[in-house]
Amino acid sequence: MTAAGLLGGAPAQAPAAELPYRNAALPVDERVEDLLGRMTLDDKLGQMTQADRSALDPQSDIATYRLGSVLSGGGSAPAQNTAEGWADMYDAYQRTALSTPLGIPLLYGVDAVHGHNNVRGATIFPHNIGLGATGDPELVERIGAATAEEVAGTGVDWDFAPCLCVARNDRWGRTYESFGEVPELPTAMTTLITGLQGETLGSGPASVLATAKHYLGDGGTEGGVDQGDTRLSEAELRAVHLPPFREAVARGVGSVMVSYSSWNGEKVHGSAYLINGLLKEELGFDGFVVSDWGAIDQLDGSPGFTGAEIAQGINAGLDMIMVPYEYREFLSLLRQEVQAGRIPMERIDDANRRILTKKFELGLFEHPYTDRSLTGTVGSAAHRELARQAVRESQVLLKNEGGVLPLDPGARVFVAGKSADDIGNQSGGWTISWQGGSGEVTPGTTILDGIRAAALDPARVAYDREGEGVDGSYDVAVAVVGETPYAEGAGDRPGGLGLDQEDLDTLGRLRASGVPVVVVLVSGRPLDVAGPLADWDALLAAWLPGTEGAGVADVLYGAYPPTGRLPVTWPASASQEPINEGDGQQPLFPLGYGLGYGAAD
Ligand code: GLC
Repeated sequence: MTAAGLLGGAPAQAPAAELPYRNAALPVDERVEDLLGRMTLDDKLGQMTQADRSALDPQSDIATYRLGSVLSGGGSAPAQNTAEGWADMYDAYQRTALSTPLGIPLLYGVDAVHGHNNVRGATIFPHNIGLGATGDPELVERIGAATAEEVAGTGVDWDFAPCLCVARNDRWGRTYESFGEVPELPTAMTTLITGLQGETLGSGPASVLATAKHYLGDGGTEGGVDQGDTRLSEAELRAVHLPPFREAVARGVGSVMVSYSSWNGEKVHGSAYLINGLLKEELGFDGFVVSDWGAIDQLDGSPGFTGAEIAQGINAGLDMIMVPYEYREFLSLLRQEVQAGRIPMERIDDANRRILTKKFELGLFEHPYTDRSLTGTVGSAAHRELARQAVRESQVLLKNEGGVLPLDPGARVFVAGKSADDIGNQSGGWTISWQGGSGEVTPGTTILDGIRAAALDPARVAYDREGEGVDGSYDVAVAVVGETPYAEGAGDRPGGLGLDQEDLDTLGRLRASGVPVVVVLVSGRPLDVAGPLADWDALLAAWLPGTEGAGVADVLYGAYPPTGRLPVTWPASASQEPINEGDGQQPLFPLGYGLGYGAAD
């Protein structure tokens, strides 16, 4: 199918400013109806289509195929990966979209799941599991607002966040994207939506469209298998996984992303009961529903998508399809399904109403290009200070034998461990690249940097990654160990949850020196530490703090007392997984556990 054949002829003149849908004084629903009435079938089908930027070849396909949205999948960045480079890229795509006869602006989506994490130099906040440990919804709202400024400062207007998953099995590779194992925690942290969108979508210059994801039950799969099967009664599904989405809808979240996972064997992406029935009708969700990356390809269990899968997903309630590559084939099949009557025109119009309503509410028709006054907020000192506060509040002190913490600023300290001086490890997945990576992936302050800055004399702080050189002359050893970055299924751990051999060897060297050992665990989930714990004098769960590692040192040295509380139950052994509050098992540390520095704690 050629472009011309698909769209039927050359575009008309650019729209005159006085058309009703261009009149910002009119109510949104009137503007939507006026615009809808002017749209061709291909305009409407294009609005429901989202492509990854890397698939656009040529870029003019945005106009040729009337694409409603473009995204950056994890790590899909412009060649110049700076705030300005992103803003220039966004504006170029938007100019292309506005060149169409009706000039409908596109939505550009990214996973800014702990800051604007694709962009080098952006502030990287703690991942959600750490934010859950803060127990501070107001802080999380401020993080949302700061993230919105950085995202909007690059032009981007849609954030695929927050993940409102309720992580029930720590083997799951996305546990760190969860605010906690009970629905109350992600429900409380839906304040992130208000931070991102504002009190109402479009209220304020930095308002970006938020996404409640992944609907429904992504964190409850058997064995914690990513994209697996959540086998629960409807009552259990509603009790454990639905409350955060109910609250997100109440907060006016503008979009919902559906989960790859299944419920009792049925792919959620094809479930009219869960999407049309429960989400749209029962909860009254009036935004739009987006599929996950290539998720409709999975509906029939065979690679690639078919007309039948497209019809099943859209008839189930999907409004926008994250294709993300074969958008020409997708549009051709979608058009066939509509023309054959297998997707009613009413469904197409409803999806368009939902999508266009958000575009009008965001003010994209009036302000389609980057607000360059916000570009300088990317990685700003103010945002980094906010992130450092979030790091402080997320630290959970699990053991403090003999009051070895807080450290004396004048102490001779030996620092070791693969994550002591590694921005990539302390940031985790979804950082610059999809999977993240060890090393200096983006500017920031490592935990070692923070320790050196907190010490009275940095010369009294020694560092060796493996712990070589430690001896009894030191007052204390600090080992920063844990996990290297991963995202999604790559992080699934069906086997053990123990420390890797490098960490165990490092800890062994420190232990052999005879000095007290403080362990700082940089991980996306609880790890199996019950065995070696007896050899450690202190244990601090740092989670995945992001670029502001000094926040960890603030707690180690007592500039800020540990106030974090476990958002997940900490297993005594990986064999206990799934282990959650109230299941009758005996954990190493229970949900809500955390020590302070005061005797009373
Ligand atoms: C991924 C994730 C989803 C993300 C999307 C776009 O596969 O499941 O959380 O928003 O694709 O990157």
